[in-house]
Parts: sequence; C-alpha cells; structure tokens
Amino acid sequence: MPTPLVSPMRASRKMLRCARSGLLVLCAVATATAVSSASAQTTPASSASQAVDVDVPFIVSPPAVTQAMLDIARVNARDYLIDLGAGDGRVVILAATRYGARGLGVEIDPQLVKRAQANAKAAKVEARAEFREEDLFKTDLSPASVVTMYLLPAVNLQLRERLLALKPGTRLVSHDWDMGDWQPDEERSVAAPDKPIGKDKTSRVMLWVVPAQMAGKWCGTDDAEATLTVSQRYQKAEGKLVVGSGKQRSEIRFRVTLSGNAFVLPLPDGDIPARINGDELEFLSTRVHAGFKLRRAAEADSCALPQRLVMHSTLEGTNSQ
Ligand SMILES: C[S@@+](CC[C@H](N)C(=O)[O-])C[C@H]1O[C@@H](n2cnc3c(N)ncnc32)[C@H](O)[C@@H]1O
Repeated sequence: MPTPLVSPMRASRKMLRCARSGLLVLCAVATATAVSSASAQTTPASSASQAVDVDVPFIVSPPAVTQAMLDIARVNARDYLIDLGAGDGRVVILAATRYGARGLGVEIDPQLVKRAQANAKAAKVEARAEFREEDLFKTDLSPASVVTMYLLPAVNLQLRERLLALKPGTRLVSHDWDMGDWQPDEERSVAAPDKPIGKDKTSRVMLWVVPAQMAGKWCGTDDAEATLTVSQRYQKAEGKLVVGSGKQRSEIRFRVTLSGNAFVLPLPDGDIPARINGDELEFLSTRVHAGFKLRRAAEADSCALPQRLVMHSTLEGTNSQ
C-alpha cells in the first residue's frame, strides 16, 4: 500500500486554499499529489513528488514561457531577479545563463531547492543564481529589479500591496495569473504545447511596472508658482496643474499613465515628459521654463508664492521708480 505523500490534514488545507482560488486544474493536480502516491504516476512529473505543505503546487513554466517572462521584463545583466516559488530554478537559471543577470529563487520545498542548486551548478551559474528554502511571504523583495511569479490568483492578490510598495520601476512578471484590478502594462499570449496542465496549451505572460506615488499635492519650487493636484489608482493618474496667478493663471486638466517614475503630460501643443524622484517632480522639456520642478506638499500646504518673493518683487518695483 503506497504511503500518502502528505497528511490528510495538510491535503485538505491545500484543497481549501485551492478552492478559494477558484483554480480547478491546479487544484486537481495539487490534490492528486497530496492524497495518493499511486496517482503520482498519472500527474505531471513536475508535481509528482512534492511532500511539503505549499501554497501553490509545483508545475513548471514551459521553456517558451520562461523565455517570454524574461523577454517581457527586458531582463539584462544589471538586473537582480527574484523568482517567488522557484521550482526547479529554471527562471533564475535562464536569466543568469542567457542575460548574465543575478537572481534568487525562493522555494519552500527543500527537495526542489536542492534540485535548483544542482541545475544552477550544471549550468555553471551557481555564483549568480542563488536558491533559498524560504516561505515567499517572508522574502525581502526590496533588492529586486525584477520579480517573477507562477503562483495562483489568490497568492498574487496577497502579495499585491508588498509588490506595489517596491521601488518605482521594479518589473513584475506573472505567468497566467493577474493582479485583480491592477491591469498589466503589457501582456503576451505564448503557445506552450508542452504545458503540463490545462486543455488550452497557451500561457498568458503579464508585466507590471511598479508606479511611483504621484497622488496628492505638489507645489512649484523657488519662484515658479504652480499647484499640481493628483489622484491615482495603480499606474493611472489624473489631476489638475495650475500655473501662475491672476491674469497669468493657466489651468490644465490631465490623465497620465505612469511607467515607473516617468510619465508624459499631454498638452495641446505637444507632450511634455516628466519624472518623479522621491519628493521632487521635474518636467524634462525646454518648452517648460528650465528647471521647472515641483515638490511634494501636504494637503493643507499653500502653494502660493512665498511672501518674501512677493515682498522682494514689490521692493524691486519701488526701487525702480
Ligand atoms: C507553479 S510552481 C512554479 C515554478 C517555477 N517558478 C516555474 O515557473 O517553473 C510554484 C512553486 O512555488 C512553490 N511554493 C509554493 N508555496 C510556496 C511558499 N509559500 N513559499 C515558497 N515557495 C512556494 C512550489 O513548491 C512550486 O515549486
């Protein structure tokens, strides 16, 4: 009589999480893996030997999909990639071998960690491709320039707030599962005839670029009188820019899409690129007067020209009479 790979209690926890995620195919694989080793012969080889309690079963991304995940993120040698739920290590290893990137694969199953480490060694990239036995919910994601995931919808949603708080410009890639109402910046469909699950042998590969925080109020710096008020939902922002006062006052309403910390302000006579660096927002066009910058302000702050500058210009006016 074959021994069950995991305890019935663990199996039912896994089934419960799966059921909550609404993912029938992956649930079927996870459950088959959990309850009977006899069924292991009929489940995909990739998931057959998993004996730990996991949030997502081990299913590999086919090679074409792994490649597409790195392509969509434009991975390069400067990147540090973290793969959450690294399986046999293929995503991190391909990033290291093909692009010279450094990476970390986080995996809860110790057997898979060993397998990934052996694969990295065989590919001669063990110095750049590290694998760690760790719960992905505890991983410090702050060093990543790219985060890759082949998880489950519910797990993506659990991670979403932490992902949104990463450095603006960090690229996030998910195989098949989205981020709820946070729309991807880019999406591709990839033919995957060797996909171990599902009838439709096609995978979705999606990219999100973590947007800078633009929401709130911004004031002109130095003698540039301007107020920018912005509301934001993920990478979509809209608001109002008021420049000058009195007869010189002009007002622009806008909608922009942030790509990391960059956006383009559409004006009737041409677009103006802009960039957010922490608490500073800079327009990068010579059409806007040189060095036109705004600084992040509190909601209650007034962006009116500082009194000293008003007095200064009044005094200048007096002197010249
Ligand atoms: C669908 S597989 C993806 C494997 C690989 N990233 C790929 O794309 O081929 C998900 C992996 O996540 C791992 N995993 C599940 N729950 C985890 C957790 N809480 N922390 C770390 N890894 C986990 C599983 O063991 C499995 O190897």
